[in-house]
Amino acid sequence: MTTPAPRKILVTSALPYANGAIHLGHLVEYIQTDIWVRFQKMRGHECHYVCADDTHGTPIMLRADQEGITPEALIARIHGEHLQDFTDFHIDFDNYYSTNSEENRQLSQDIYRRLKQAGLIELRTIEQLYDPQRNMFLPDRYIKGECPKCHAADQYGDGCEVCGTTYAPTELLKPYSAVSGATPVTRESQHHFVKLSQCEDFLKDWIQNGRSGNHSPLQDETRNKIGEWFGSGLKDWDISRDAPYFGFEIPDAPGKYLYVWLDAPVGYMASFKNLCARRGLDFDAYWGKDSTAELCHFIGKDILYFHALFWPATLHYAGYRTPDHIFVHGFLTINGQKMSKSRGTFITARAYLNHLDPEYLRYYFAAKLTGRTEDLDLNFDDFVLRVNSNLIGKYINIASRSAGFITKLFDGQLAATLTNEDDALLVQLQQRAETIAGHFEARKFSEAMRELMELADLANEYVNNHAPWELARQDGRRDRLQQVCTTSINAFYLLTLYLRPVLPALVAKAEQFLNVAPLTWRDATRRLAGHTIKPYQHLASRIEEDKIAAILADNRPAAETKPSPVRHGEAQQATQGESAMIQYDDFAKIDLRVARIIKATTIEGADKLLQLTLDVGEDTPRNVFAGIRSKYQPEELQGRLTVVVANLAPRKMRFGVSEGMVLAAGPGGQELWLIAPDSGAQPGMQIK
Ligand code: MSP
Ligand code: ZN
Repeated sequence: MTTPAPRKILVTSALPYANGAIHLGHLVEYIQTDIWVRFQKMRGHECHYVCADDTHGTPIMLRADQEGITPEALIARIHGEHLQDFTDFHIDFDNYYSTNSEENRQLSQDIYRRLKQAGLIELRTIEQLYDPQRNMFLPDRYIKGECPKCHAADQYGDGCEVCGTTYAPTELLKPYSAVSGATPVTRESQHHFVKLSQCEDFLKDWIQNGRSGNHSPLQDETRNKIGEWFGSGLKDWDISRDAPYFGFEIPDAPGKYLYVWLDAPVGYMASFKNLCARRGLDFDAYWGKDSTAELCHFIGKDILYFHALFWPATLHYAGYRTPDHIFVHGFLTINGQKMSKSRGTFITARAYLNHLDPEYLRYYFAAKLTGRTEDLDLNFDDFVLRVNSNLIGKYINIASRSAGFITKLFDGQLAATLTNEDDALLVQLQQRAETIAGHFEARKFSEAMRELMELADLANEYVNNHAPWELARQDGRRDRLQQVCTTSINAFYLLTLYLRPVLPALVAKAEQFLNVAPLTWRDATRRLAGHTIKPYQHLASRIEEDKIAAILADNRPAAETKPSPVRHGEAQQATQGESAMIQYDDFAKIDLRVARIIKATTIEGADKLLQLTLDVGEDTPRNVFAGIRSKYQPEELQGRLTVVVANLAPRKMRFGVSEGMVLAAGPGGQELWLIAPDSGAQPGMQIK
């Protein structure tokens, strides 16, 4: 067999915004990319993984302002937090940089100049809403007002959250600036557009055939999606913003800044450029027009437009190479539902890390990732089950059952020769190396994990059939005992190798125990015979159920700290001596909503509880357990309206997760009265 030359691969994950914490949704992407990169490195390829914080734009500028610090100070702090979260989840970037860097300024401004030279930039005067008090143009999200259709108050400039109508910000009734509260005025401003309409032919070809003409950079599903966008013709892209803006100035255009989405992907290049300087790598070998290196971007489906249209067009017309692959993934849901702040399922990386081992999540995501774009559900029961019964019960178990004998009875030494039967098992495990590698390469990690667990089953079956604990009790079976344990340690060795991209920390411990150098894919052909292992030390434990509840509790909405920008500065202090009193603000923290009881059922083994399915005006109904069985029959509740505390942190109970609390009066027992609003109230209405 000849060894193919190592590939040169540059890999990126999308750059997280520098105005919020890393959460489990983000981690679907970073864990996925990290597994793929670790796999490529194990295959002996030259693979670089770069990322950065996405630091520019209005939200970051305004948040810094609210905190009374400079944007630079804000992004420096967030950079530290993000990097710590990633490091703790074993995301092994070769470089984690910032888009607010000198490299990025130069590259971005230069790309702008090249696009201009290519005749792709056009200046146009547009009308926009302007905040006369804060002296800034307002992005749509910062204009609020009354919905022109249903007259709901406090709706955003792009659409109404109550009736679902979309409209232009100029159509809002009684509009006001969410920044200052002032009434916006209409102003003209000159903007710089990239004429994307002129890039259509190039893009159509690129999307079908890629840069080398032999493969599409996109998965079938995403390619079809983009086909739909071409249908209506591509709109030109506004890449400028007016001062004040936190970003890079447009060359020769005073007061104009590059829109954050122009410089953000250039941040991939800038991060790599910075790495090149540190490691002596050749930047052009990766980004030059004739580069033979592979360029792979991992992104979520929400930012496909930017990566599949704007980005390749930008690169191509600025004289750079274009990506080979855009690997798109879906969104994380939790217990089947969108992550939600008020339900406490907007779980931050830190809240998770405070209670659980990061590798459990890595394993779970790996077990569910398919390489396609559908959403990925984190179901807590399934999570606990898979980790405890597969990872711990099947994989770890193989080592823990055999290692003790080798250490105690054979001084750590493995048998030098095995029987044909032993050999047959190991050959079976070794022969799957390329199948499993194929799944990793195709990002079908779930397939790889499925194969792996099948192999773990075979190994456990082998151990059960040969029962080393019984051999140990029989006379004259010492040699056989050593062989059986050697076989199972070798099986463990192979599974460890296959799991290495997913579980780097656990595998590092296993490598120590096995007394082997960091494993590469080639080591799959190796056999540990006559080799000495170290004493087995505990590698991992099961997840205890209460940890999940603890994580959810940590994500209890932090009392909605978003200060209303209008009132910012007039902090309201509770007066001394009013300890039993609360301020209105305290009351306002409780999100009380009208709920309709869609379904009520009894629960076996819980004679005080009823399980309620509540319509709270959201996409999906909520599940709430209520201690009202002493008074109410399920049948009499169905269809009734009640009141629910909608932002109570979810509680994991024996029967499932409770996502809120219904209100009742009275001490309990027969003395219990469910609270109901007057008839006519609708599910989801806020109670204040
Ligand atoms: N800053 C932009 C990306 C610029 S890339 C040049 C951005 N940042 S983000 O913080 O909102 O998201 C970063 C990545 O995480 C994106 O690929 C996004 O799709 C992904 N995810 C964010 N929330 C997610 C889920 N809930 N589930 C899965 N992925 C999610 O977009
Ligand atoms: Zn409306």
